[in-house]
Amino acid sequence: MHASIRWTLLNTLYCQPFSGLKRLGLCFYGAKIHSRAYLSPQVFIDPLFPSLLTIEEGALLGLGVRIALHEHAGNRFRAGRVRIGRGATIGADTRIACGVEIGEYARIGLGSVVLRDIPPHSIAVGNPARIIAKIDK
Ligand SMILES: CC(C)(COP(=O)(O)OP(=O)(O)OC[C@H]1O[C@@H](n2cnc3c(N)ncnc32)[C@H](O)[C@@H]1OP(=O)(O)O)[C@@H](O)C(=O)NCCC(=O)NCCS
Repeated sequence: MHASIRWTLLNTLYCQPFSGLKRLGLCFYGAKIHSRAYLSPQVFIDPLFPSLLTIEEGALLGLGVRIALHEHAGNRFRAGRVRIGRGATIGADTRIACGVEIGEYARIGLGSVVLRDIPPHSIAVGNPARIIAKIDK
């Protein structure tokens, strides 16, 4: 029952343009999201395990980004923390798998599928996302 209410509430917030409202809803359910992080409209964060999510200061999630915090593979179930580091930008429509860390100031290209950790100050694109460049600090 509680899970259904959480699912309904968060899904309603995800459609709203207001980043702050989404942040408040997710933090209410245990996510750690800095007040100066930005969540664009249509961002979808796995409502089953919001407490596994950390988004640091200045990180930006583009339109339609989706973050999974659990996965099923055959009869195996896994939940995993996702951390979006300080100042990282996640391009629109990117998918991020559970258990992944995006390093500080990394940039992820539009429409990428991120299955592995991305080191700080890297640019990664594609499916699966691969590093194509490093950013000068
Ligand atoms: C990833 C990104 C930051 C790279 O920008 P950049 O450093 O200027 O890189 P370039 O545009 O010069 O592209 C470098 C190479 O990566 C490829 N590339 C860039 N973005 C890509 C993407 N999203 N998917 C696959 N390949 C991509 C380019 O085709 C190019 O390949 P080439 O060297 O073989 O020609 C940018 O392309 C991007 O996707 N930004 C996010 C935009 C976005 O989501 N906006 C909406 C936010 S709401």
